[in-house]
Amino acid sequence: RVLIVDFGSQVTQLIARRLRESGVFCEIHPYDKVETILDEFAPKAIILSGGPASVHEAASPAAPKRLFELDVPVLGICYGEQTMCAELGGKVEPGTTREFGRAEIEIVKESPLLEGLGALGHSETVWMSHGDKVTALPAGFEAVAVSEGSPFAVIADEGRRFYGIQFHPEVAHTPRGALILRNFTHRIAGLKGDWTMKAFRDEAIARIREQVGEGKVICGLSGGVDSSVAAVLIHEAIGDQLTCVFVDTGLLRHNEAEQVVTMFRDHYNIPLVHVDASKDFLGALAGVTDPETKRKTIGRLFVEVFDREAAKIEGAAFLAQGTLYPDVIESVSASGGPSAVIKSHHNVGGLPDYMKLKLVEPLRELFKDEVRKLGVELGLPPAFVGRHPFPGPGLAIRIPGEVSPERVAVLQKADAIYLEEIRKAGLYDSIWQAFAVLLPVRTVGVMGDARTYDEVCALRAVTSTDGMTADFFEFPWEVLGRAATRIINEVKGINRVVYDVTSKPPGTIEWE
Ligand code: XMP
Repeated sequence: RVLIVDFGSQVTQLIARRLRESGVFCEIHPYDKVETILDEFAPKAIILSGGPASVHEAASPAAPKRLFELDVPVLGICYGEQTMCAELGGKVEPGTTREFGRAEIEIVKESPLLEGLGALGHSETVWMSHGDKVTALPAGFEAVAVSEGSPFAVIADEGRRFYGIQFHPEVAHTPRGALILRNFTHRIAGLKGDWTMKAFRDEAIARIREQVGEGKVICGLSGGVDSSVAAVLIHEAIGDQLTCVFVDTGLLRHNEAEQVVTMFRDHYNIPLVHVDASKDFLGALAGVTDPETKRKTIGRLFVEVFDREAAKIEGAAFLAQGTLYPDVIESVSASGGPSAVIKSHHNVGGLPDYMKLKLVEPLRELFKDEVRKLGVELGLPPAFVGRHPFPGPGLAIRIPGEVSPERVAVLQKADAIYLEEIRKAGLYDSIWQAFAVLLPVRTVGVMGDARTYDEVCALRAVTSTDGMTADFFEFPWEVLGRAATRIINEVKGINRVVYDVTSKPPGTIEWE
């Protein structure tokens, strides 16, 4: 087991994810809480994450000194490297220029950490993101790779098995970063890599049982993959102590509400309350055009409807949700976290105090593809868990401008046609997420001999591995053409179709 000491980087969870991918069990703990769990946790290796702080700030976050006295390998990444150097007697100075983005490192000394990358002199692409840099190494350390901006891009004290990396090996932009982390856990720390999703399932079940005891749990089903996997996992842990409440917002994809009800009631025999609240949601959204107001309106109503249903289920003490890690990180606000609020995700942030329900969030550490693997592990149909992600606020955030029942119906039809054409072309599984957006923009067209003046439908499709960054999908033109022709011919109210070629960043996947 590996201890990841968190200094607040946006990508700390990616380190965890890379380790899990190579079969290594790990836990993330904030740097100021590490001391309390250290003895019990007994790590076989320690990774110090990056973070937004500067070693120069007064009271800058530091790892407990004791971490360096345990005789286990330590890997410091970015800020982790700097704080390690500062603590062990090296020197860190503010960089004159911030090094940010793609960089090349050159291997100048052999080290097990870089094994498999290439021989001495080999140059490797990495992703840098730092302001300060190490200018003098602590005793025992040597440089094993350099970059143009830093003579200590990778450093090692092979005797004590302490390593420092100036760049981020955990992000996809460091193409062979996973190998570096694997070298650390497997070669240097000697871990076997025999941890699997089956083990995660067993641990999660044990954790749920421990948290919940004899208590009753309500699970908010959204119709998406995440809450479904959470529900099935929790049902496996505690059986009929679980009741699922499916709040049907009327903002789901075409036919999806029916599918969810059939699957849970008939196939899994999980007690399910189906609340058709579409009128409430559409009513509350009338006249609302601001994206954040939409999200907050939906979020608030969702909680209200839950509150009502929870009150009917006697003795319910817990609320289960399918919150994933990217939802958590993008919602972390100034209230303690280093990252900025991009969008308020309606399934994150807890519940008002008066609800008195405690949260059960068994997927909180996972990324989407890991949830899919867990779903398959739990016996859910692969086609179901392979469905593209769908946001909690549903189609409302794919209808810029005012959301009306009519516009929802128009969008559902266009979206269904688009997805059908993608499936027919055999491209569905190559795409992370594809959907239609209905724009509040009318343009002129001609159909038959008549003039039309209808709305524009934007098609979006992106590839991604975790939803945190994304590229637009490169369709064969004829697939887009077929979808566009069908949408214009079959969906009344749309007379023009455009394709969105924005990546994330700077765009986001959803339009609102
Ligand atoms: P963005 O638009 O932020 O989306 O690039 C990243 C991923 O998150 C999904 N998303 C949400 N999921 N509740 C959710 O459960 C939300 O409020 C929400 N907003 C966005 C989005 O579909 C994409 O997969």
